[in-house]
Amino acid sequence: MNSIYERVSDINRTKMIIFKTASDLGHQLDKYRQKGQAIGFAPTMGALHDGHLSLLKTSKSQNQVTLCSIFVNPAQFNDPKDFKKYPSTLEQDIYKLETGGCDLLFLPPVEEIYPDGVTEKKHYDLGYLDTMLEGKFRPGHFQGVCMAVERLLEIVLPDNLYLGQKDFQQCMVIKRLIQLMGKENKIHTNICPILREQDGLAMSSRNMRLIGEQRAKAAALYETLNFLKQNLNKGSLSDLKKEATTLLQEKNFKPDYVEIANAKTLRPINEWDSRTNIVGLVAAYIGDVRLIDNMILN
Ligand code: PAF
Repeated sequence: MNSIYERVSDINRTKMIIFKTASDLGHQLDKYRQKGQAIGFAPTMGALHDGHLSLLKTSKSQNQVTLCSIFVNPAQFNDPKDFKKYPSTLEQDIYKLETGGCDLLFLPPVEEIYPDGVTEKKHYDLGYLDTMLEGKFRPGHFQGVCMAVERLLEIVLPDNLYLGQKDFQQCMVIKRLIQLMGKENKIHTNICPILREQDGLAMSSRNMRLIGEQRAKAAALYETLNFLKQNLNKGSLSDLKKEATTLLQEKNFKPDYVEIANAKTLRPINEWDSRTNIVGLVAAYIGDVRLIDNMILN
């Protein structure tokens, strides 16, 4: 990996600058800050797709400087097999960022993010967000996300942070983290819309792991969310959730959840008043690939 990194970074030195240490990156960012330039930041775990590139594009339109990071965060994988199988496409990622006009790339080794080791856990008070939906099915996941994102935000101190709506609950968790850090007036969070493939499948790094039939069936998640949207009525939502779950099962998915929740708080809703803004959220396995998706329903 090192030789690829050095080769590509040499070619691109005058365009996108790649940093591996927090101190080098910090010095560079200070120079922009002294000139009063706004810094936009999109943290990623690599295996980049057009969804990530849309974060980059939005940041470029709103900031003088755009920084992306690629760090596959070991602390947020509750399942070690999932961590091992997480796709890595570094050479293509660097090419995509470079051609997308990214100014800076932060590519830290684990020790830069976790100087005291990955197992040195801190606890973040995320309230019910920590133990519901993704938090329930991936225990410890959001604590791990917070560990990496807190460190990244401390290093970067961006004016604007760009996150994808595809990880709806993660966006809420990171907003909460920023509050816990006391930085809600300094870091402005921008949630960018989900980008979809032609058949509706939400773009995700994990889609790379779908093979043959699995890929052909994967749009069932999107169809399920559309089913919720089209059949939404005032009153009880429990039958609708059950029918949507069955739809997914018929397409060979193994659902973790099909939920409808308040779009502001993420509290599940069973009786809808027809006015509250609601979001449909699904998580399901096809084979051993776990996919998530969501849609604002009204
Ligand atoms: O969404 C992701 O790619 C990751 O969870 C993030 C925000 C980069 C933290 O590791």
